[in-house]
Amino acid sequence: MKLNLFLLMVLVALVAANFGLSDNPAHRNFEAMPEMVRTIAYKSFSANPDFPDGKTLQLPPEGAIPRQPDHVVTHPGALVYQTYCQPCHGGAGKGDGPVALRGFPPPPSLLAEHAMKLSGNQIFQIVSHGQKNMPSYAVQVPPQDRWAAVSYIRTLQGDAQR
Ligand code: HEC
Repeated sequence: MKLNLFLLMVLVALVAANFGLSDNPAHRNFEAMPEMVRTIAYKSFSANPDFPDGKTLQLPPEGAIPRQPDHVVTHPGALVYQTYCQPCHGGAGKGDGPVALRGFPPPPSLLAEHAMKLSGNQIFQIVSHGQKNMPSYAVQVPPQDRWAAVSYIRTLQGDAQR
């Protein structure tokens, strides 16, 4: 009974709103929180009233720990690896990516001796043609990006040995 009353009230309110609110196409409809759709964008170097120093680009807070060494982030293969390989092979290549953690047969660590001894060409071939449980990435990743990923794996391996 209460629910029916409530629904009746909702219905009355909706009918009233339907007649009450103008549907003049020359005017914009009411928008709740328009900034959610069109955020106010600042250019990196433009002034910004939201920060005490008036700048848009802010330094990381004191004591912030970089999650990856800079040379890893700026490596041309980083984006390729993070997009296509990291889901299985993990951020550092240890074979602990989210896909592997959720039941996909985990790949061997790219930091293990076996992977260290693969030649760049062999890694390129594995990415191009796949190997056992690993599918080919020839369609998604163009050859130049495959080489960039190979080079990025070498960077990860170098970091692991340091
Ligand atoms: C869907 C999960 C998955 C993705 C994504 C993936 N791999 Fe693999 N990868 C595997 C699995 C599983 C193996 C082990 C295959 C086997 O048993 O021989 C493997 C093996 C490898 C090996 C051989 C390692 C060794 O020691 O034999 C290399 C190198 C490799 N992957 C590179 C890559 C690169 C580069 C990418 C991105 C372009 C990538 N993989 C994307 C699952 C994946």
